[in-house]
Amino acid sequence: MEIFTDICDFRLYIKQVRQHNKSIGFVPTMGALHQGHLELVKKSIQQNDVTVCSIFVNPTQFNNPNDLENYPRDNKTDLSLLKANNCDVVFLPSNAIMYKKNDILSLNFGYLENIMEGKFRPGHFKGVGLIVIKLFNLACPNRAYFGTKDLQQLTIVKKLTKELLYDIEIIPVQTIREPDGLAMSSRNGLLSKEERIQALDLYKALNTAKKQLIGGESVTSVLKYVQQFFTTESKLELEYFEIVNTTDLMKINEIPTSKQVSLCIAGQLGKVRLIDNMSLL
Ligand code: PAJ
Repeated sequence: MEIFTDICDFRLYIKQVRQHNKSIGFVPTMGALHQGHLELVKKSIQQNDVTVCSIFVNPTQFNNPNDLENYPRDNKTDLSLLKANNCDVVFLPSNAIMYKKNDILSLNFGYLENIMEGKFRPGHFKGVGLIVIKLFNLACPNRAYFGTKDLQQLTIVKKLTKELLYDIEIIPVQTIREPDGLAMSSRNGLLSKEERIQALDLYKALNTAKKQLIGGESVTSVLKYVQQFFTTESKLELEYFEIVNTTDLMKINEIPTSKQVSLCIAGQLGKVRLIDNMSLL
């Protein structure tokens, strides 16, 4: 497995791969890798000649300095996991390489950065967009892999890829869960034993809400049920629960026949912020 920390070396390697007409699959991550990340790597290996994974805890997407400081970092374990899972290349840049002091570029994703995650993490998607563009420009992938666990991020990445005319296929990968249903996340390791049990309330609420909607209950009554569940029965502090159109993430009042609907949820447990979502299909 090749490991690059320098931009010039990485660019040269990518140039050679492309000159040999080999396809590149790209998996951007912030490390603290788990089975969810590895599923993205697995998909990329299946579909491409060369799989490149990046590990970079991107400071511009953290609106909360404590969250950035506490974000788990373990390059050694990450690299051995990637090697064991047959990843070909890892790009491991430093902050100084990815950002310069006088950088001024700022992105705007319109309504998409002001709803759900964007509302609770101001500036988050501007940072995600910026780093994804930089990484796309360096890795020059044919395909890039993103988890549906971060549905709003996936939507924003699809949008920027289309609007900036990147010739990159964005491949969504289903959420990988723990055996009890909790969506895998790098932040799960920060939960106490008690919080780990309470965290399951996100999954429980999504499941119940999904069943209610499939059973014909109205959007309004399901929204009310979930709000009430978190007020009366859960320690988790609900930030939002929304029922949206899966394509544009706009709130819906009625379930369309296509059932292209996603239930999106986020909440805080102590110092840890967790998100999850479920498709109605
Ligand atoms: P990170 O949180 O490390 O996630 C990297 C990728 O793994 C994202 O596409 C995310 O959706 C996916 N992922 C996370 N948990 C998953 C799970 N349980 N099942 C399937 N996929 C999962 O998302 C980021 O990093 C960053 O914002 C990044 C895109 C790298 C930009 O900095």
